[in-house]
Amino acid sequence: MTNQVTDEYRRTSYEISQTIAPGWERWRSRFETVVAPVREWMVRELASPRGATVLELAAGAGDTGFEAVRALGGDARLISTDFSPAMLDVGRRRGAELGIKNVEFRVLDAEYLGLDTDSVDGVLCRFGYMLMADPAEALRETRRVLRPGGRLTLAVWGAAERNPFFTVIASTLVKGGQLPALREGVPTPFSMASPVQTKALLEAAGFRVVKVEEVPLEFQFRDVDDYLRFMADTAGPLAVALRKLPQPEGKAVAAGLENALGIFETGGEYKIPGIALVAAAS
Ligand SMILES: C[S@@+](CC[C@H](N)C(=O)[O-])C[C@H]1O[C@@H](n2cnc3c(N)ncnc32)[C@H](O)[C@@H]1O
Repeated sequence: MTNQVTDEYRRTSYEISQTIAPGWERWRSRFETVVAPVREWMVRELASPRGATVLELAAGAGDTGFEAVRALGGDARLISTDFSPAMLDVGRRRGAELGIKNVEFRVLDAEYLGLDTDSVDGVLCRFGYMLMADPAEALRETRRVLRPGGRLTLAVWGAAERNPFFTVIASTLVKGGQLPALREGVPTPFSMASPVQTKALLEAAGFRVVKVEEVPLEFQFRDVDDYLRFMADTAGPLAVALRKLPQPEGKAVAAGLENALGIFETGGEYKIPGIALVAAAS
């Protein structure tokens, strides 16, 4: 990406996060049910000592960090961060609901962490790095603030063709001209889908990769409306495009989806597969 495209991407990505934060709060509980295997993998593989200081990047509603700090127990401490103040507010409310006390919430861009070198024992980042303008820089920053021997666990989405819960709506909108086709080099949910490239990115940032695995997931939706509401509430640029659709076009999109989602219908609902790539590195 040129500097201008990168800056424009950062601005848009920030604005979108601010806009969709209430949607993420609405769907938090259902999303957490779907991605529980990813959250559990990341917390388990973090393998931090009791009493550790854990940093969560791009935390959104923050559940991964809350679960990690509860698992570590004792005087473990969490720094829950996101570059979007609105997302961080969602996390603050969720933390209060869970009664998490030993947590500090900070608005931080993962690409420019204002934290001391070697200052944390573990880092979590779920579905964050691949959306950043410069994931390589964010990983270098992560390595800098993580003390030697400390672990990073991360999750990104696997290959687009194995995540139809997302690509069915994306291709419907691109075909209908309601969403521009992807621009070369601009981040997408699938920018880090390749295990080989993600491993290489981690190593280039100074990490030793401990493991990279796949975690299968399943999204369940009652009907097309339920699916569309989820997407319009949470799905980044797709959410923005869906919210702008005039009613007749919205109806045409829903009809197209009814067709496209048919293959996932089981027992009166849609069960749509997804795949996450998870990694642990130190
Ligand atoms: C797909 S959401 C994932 C939220 C949460 N980690 C989860 O798994 O539910 C992506 C999050 O990354 C945040 N984000 C994107 N770019 C960021 C950056 N450069 N620095 C910090 N946060 C960022 C967004 O604000 C958003 O909360």
